[in-house]
Amino acid sequence: MAPLVDGWGREIGSVRVSVTDKCNFRCRYCMPADGLEWLPHAELLTFEEIARLVRVLAAMGVGEVRLTGGEPLARRGLPELVALLSTVDGVHDLSLTTNGVLLDRLAAPLVRAGLTRLNVSLDSLNHVRFAQMTRRDALDRVLAGLEEAERHPQLRPIKVNCVAVRGFTEIEVPALAELARRKPYVVRFIEFMPLDADEAWRGDEVLSGAEIRALVEARWGPLVELPTKASSTARRFRFADGIGELGFVSPVSEPFCSACDRIRVTADGQLRTCLFSRREWDLKGPLRAGASDAELEQLIRHAVRHKELKHRINDAGFVRASRSMSQIGG
Ligand code: 5AD
Ligand code: SF4
Repeated sequence: MAPLVDGWGREIGSVRVSVTDKCNFRCRYCMPADGLEWLPHAELLTFEEIARLVRVLAAMGVGEVRLTGGEPLARRGLPELVALLSTVDGVHDLSLTTNGVLLDRLAAPLVRAGLTRLNVSLDSLNHVRFAQMTRRDALDRVLAGLEEAERHPQLRPIKVNCVAVRGFTEIEVPALAELARRKPYVVRFIEFMPLDADEAWRGDEVLSGAEIRALVEARWGPLVELPTKASSTARRFRFADGIGELGFVSPVSEPFCSACDRIRVTADGQLRTCLFSRREWDLKGPLRAGASDAELEQLIRHAVRHKELKHRINDAGFVRASRSMSQIGG
């Protein structure tokens, strides 16, 4: 079947599927302290509906599937979905982004279901500061979740994601770099993007990847850059002595839109062709109205032809996305 190609010639190879908008954290860069309304359960795509969309996408060459939320492990029975997706023809990479708080219980069933990769959010290794950022005192549970994930060699790489916020993250850098050296985790610093529900983001709060790299290099000496796939969002580096790997995801200071191969499906079945989309394409309606696979395929191809060229975070007059991160799916 013909590949899924956007209006700028980019081939889509990756889909991020949000399975819930709910979360048991309230990270400052994502959610408000309280007051977000959850989607009613009936609005969420069922596991069967998600599997059907993934089958249609995989047939067009979208072979990389990442489950996100909200907090995906807050969706009851998630390993069942992983089991469904791991048998879909053409899906060659199935991963999950989680805050890690339920991982100590769920790592084993997820691995049994066929999960092979994992991203865990972790912004601080200090209990007080962890709770400041996430508004939950859960550092020990996240670390326990990571330890449990580590016991499963099928789950590799384990990536630890830290959203880099100026005035907060600088002093976390040494401990997070040490974590990357001590543990089999790739620690990745992600630039803060204007996707926070509080709309508190300001350009000067973005702590760039280059600045963090300079902090690391001041202590450990020059890092050695490693090769990546063209569509990779991260630049990878290892320490000069070969122990430990860091990643830098720098969508604000070094936009990587020109090589973007991603689309997203929200928990309520809306196709988004960019994190910063102002427009969504309804898939749930047609799915529930009995659309055929061919009809779904045409709908998806049409939406993807309209994929945004790039985000405009750095442009004057930038307009925020129509939803915040937990409602889109990181
Ligand atoms: N900017 C950058 N990354 C964010 N995430 C959530 N909100 C933001 C934001 N405003 C990331 C978290 C999490 C993933 C789901 O999305 O690091 O790992
Ligand atoms: Fe929850 Fe992830 Fe948003 Fe934090 S970033 S509030 S863990 S969805």
